[in-house]
Amino acid sequence: MKFERSQQLFEYGARYLSGGVSSNFRYGGYGESPVPLYYTKGEGSRITDADGNVYIDYALGNGPIILGHAPKSVLDQVVSTLSMGQLFAGQTELEANLAKKICDLVPCAERIRFASSGTETIQAAVRLARAYTGRAKIMKFEGHYHGWTDNIFVSVNPPLDQVGEESNPISVSQTPGQSSRALEDVVTLPWNNLDLFAEVMRNRGHEIAAVVMEPINCNTGAMLPLPGYLEGVRQITSDCGTVLIFDEVITGFRVGLAGAQGLFGVTPDMAIFAKALAAGFPLAVLAGKKSIMDLLHTASVMHGGTYNANVVAVAAGLATIGELEANQGRAYQHMTSLGEHLMEGLRMIASDFRQTMTIQGLGTVFHPLFAATGTIRNYREFAGIDHARKNRFYARLQSAGTRVTARGTWFLSTAHSNDDVEQTLEHARHAMRIFSNE
Ligand SMILES: Cc1ncc(COP(=O)(O)O)c(C=O)c1O
Repeated sequence: MKFERSQQLFEYGARYLSGGVSSNFRYGGYGESPVPLYYTKGEGSRITDADGNVYIDYALGNGPIILGHAPKSVLDQVVSTLSMGQLFAGQTELEANLAKKICDLVPCAERIRFASSGTETIQAAVRLARAYTGRAKIMKFEGHYHGWTDNIFVSVNPPLDQVGEESNPISVSQTPGQSSRALEDVVTLPWNNLDLFAEVMRNRGHEIAAVVMEPINCNTGAMLPLPGYLEGVRQITSDCGTVLIFDEVITGFRVGLAGAQGLFGVTPDMAIFAKALAAGFPLAVLAGKKSIMDLLHTASVMHGGTYNANVVAVAAGLATIGELEANQGRAYQHMTSLGEHLMEGLRMIASDFRQTMTIQGLGTVFHPLFAATGTIRNYREFAGIDHARKNRFYARLQSAGTRVTARGTWFLSTAHSNDDVEQTLEHARHAMRIFSNE
């Protein structure tokens, strides 16, 4: 593969874009190219870079592109609303329709608010939880990502020599420039350890306004909750009067129309959604119990946003959910069956080349790890794996024509086909052959 045009464009862009990118997450995930890639087109399951290299895409914009690139039904609905105007500093019927749809589908959604990104939405959730409980502290889990603001960008991928004892973790800053005071209000724990959670909540539950988690830890190895874990957390948070917030920015509308809360049958007090909700258009949702959400107007808890519920994003959300709901949810059966086939195929390829591989997650979102078979339950176990090996394999895979996220997560879309999966498995076999001989 050649990357000359991307290199030229990167050098041009870097004169104006800091570091040549618009998000730090876009360093990495560019395979064997020496620079972050520039892209010219996305169509269905494929993306094309500036040098004309075509990839089967499982990065899917880091998750949102659940209907594939440029899905016609969404584009048509968006285009049909463009002449209506974009923003009115007021409400639209479309917005109320989408709100009703989400409240009908999502168990915890008695009331919702729209926003534009996951990062801002978790801020509203945390603020509401503090107002509701009159408490200051927030509990989050190592390896869980909830956006990049000071008060929650904590212990997402901390160095293992800084995290302290498992029973008494240290909340680790994730970026220079982060206020050390922001960290004082964050209690961090390893995930998936119910006994430890119960013990900490017994001692400190009265100070904790909210427990925030990804109900499937998609950002760190697509780790699933251990049986009984979510149920236990639900019970304990209820007993302590602590607000339970599920960050469903990835799992929402991806693992099913009712999100992970529907899949596992555990209803949090609040949840946030984004990504797959609008197939690539910037739309996020804050959802929750009426008693908490109503504080936005009865107690004037502040939530704003110029672009909230803009017409384009709402139209995209309506069209996306329409597609995902059609034919009794056949979209999910399709993605799940292709994803499971991929997982199985990758396992077999790894075993043929005597590589140890554990694949975690579900058909719609999964993460292969070069680790001895067994369940990776939390960030500390995940961080102990040799990720450099995985990155080398993915660089080879991308050169063969299949792209996954920089972290190693694979997302499926309704646009992926059996042929895509078979081709991807050929790419993986080719990449594994080179990788194993290195
Ligand atoms: C679980 C989770 N929460 C929150 C966010 C932040 O969302 P955004 O990038 O839309 O601000 C992300 C982004 O990847 C995420 O994966």
